[in-house]
Amino acid sequence: MATLSTSVLGIDFENPFILASAPPAAKIESIDKAFSLGWGGVSVKTITPDGLEMIEASQRYATWKLNNRVCGFENIELLSHLTVQQWLDGIKFLKQKHPKKVIIANIMAPVVKEEWQKLVMTFNNSGADAFELNFSCPHGMPEKGIGMAIGTNPEISATITQWVAEVAQKPVFVKLSPNVTDIVKIAKSVEAAGANGLSAINTVQSMMGVDLDTFEPMPNVNGKTTFGGYSGMAVKPIGLRCVAQIRQNSALPIMGIGGISSWHDAAEYMCVGADVVQVCTEVMINGYAVIDSMKKGLLNYLNSKDFSGPADLKNKAIVNLSAHQSLNKQKQVYPYVDDDLCVKCGKCVTICDESEHSALSFINGHIALDKDKCVGCSLCSHVCPKSALKMKF
Ligand SMILES: Cc1cc2nc3c(=O)[nH]c(=O)nc-3n(C[C@H](O)[C@H](O)[C@H](O)COP(=O)(O)O)c2cc1C
Repeated sequence: MATLSTSVLGIDFENPFILASAPPAAKIESIDKAFSLGWGGVSVKTITPDGLEMIEASQRYATWKLNNRVCGFENIELLSHLTVQQWLDGIKFLKQKHPKKVIIANIMAPVVKEEWQKLVMTFNNSGADAFELNFSCPHGMPEKGIGMAIGTNPEISATITQWVAEVAQKPVFVKLSPNVTDIVKIAKSVEAAGANGLSAINTVQSMMGVDLDTFEPMPNVNGKTTFGGYSGMAVKPIGLRCVAQIRQNSALPIMGIGGISSWHDAAEYMCVGADVVQVCTEVMINGYAVIDSMKKGLLNYLNSKDFSGPADLKNKAIVNLSAHQSLNKQKQVYPYVDDDLCVKCGKCVTICDESEHSALSFINGHIALDKDKCVGCSLCSHVCPKSALKMKF
């Protein structure tokens, strides 16, 4: 029988699902509720030194929807509004009430050695099990020279990691930004500077859209906007790529984040290197109770594969990543149509026609394939609304 428990850097997680640093992790009573519902841990909303200006905008969100379902959030929210003392009291309370839950102190400070070290030393004995350094918030903070301004610069990232590592008595994770050309470069620089683990990803810098009547971009803050951070299921492919790239180049533990909305997404993150995962947007949209199906689904899957726990799944897909030039291009797949499922909508024919190859056509009311023209690109199978086309050798 599989178990969901796992251990990372000596920290025991009763399950690998952690609330990401964000609104669901901003209030002590909310975290208390989330723990009671079964979350394995929390990375608290970013704690900053008292006095750091934090004036929020209204509106702070814009969304990308498909068929009325939110697929992605853009937010321009800043960091925690609780004081350092409120977090100290809160973490103490949470740890007493939920001793088996993992609490991660996610922190950010101005680029001043004393400020970072003071914050770390303040939380060393707070009950928090680890630190997570927020080098990756893409809005508001970079204008102050922090957040993503740190995480896009390997030298500053390394310097701050070293300051923190000098005084931290708990494992230090660095939360990386996807908004860089080469995330591995940043990961390696903080690893060399003493990071014990990595978290990826924070939000993807974005602009949601523009109102074509008023020419005001979104989210609309009294007529203007600023670039924000994109999250939710739309960013999963970016998060997966980042985690995989880091894993290909580093053995450090990774907390995988970005667009996880089901146990399936979590398992995929583990296959490409994540030890545990963090979730934010899915919880905001569907509530803390989503943990139930995430835990059940992952446990069923682990059992179905005869894995004993999340650690058995870790890195399973990494060997199957390769350079383009090393891919086996000798064998080609072709689409096979299940006539019982096909509704003859013609989407497959259109995309094949308009995307260069014209290998599909209607003959006597059925989809016919010209094998000589087909290049096995698979586009047709992706647009079929009924999954009637399967790619096979
Ligand atoms: C509204 C909002 C606020 C966030 N605030 C923080 C924050 O204070 N600190 C931080 O490290 N990440 C913050 N994040 C980023 C999340 O922790 C997470 O990295 C990101 O949303 C991707 O995960 P998701 O797709 O599950 O939401 C925030 C995200 C959102 C949507």
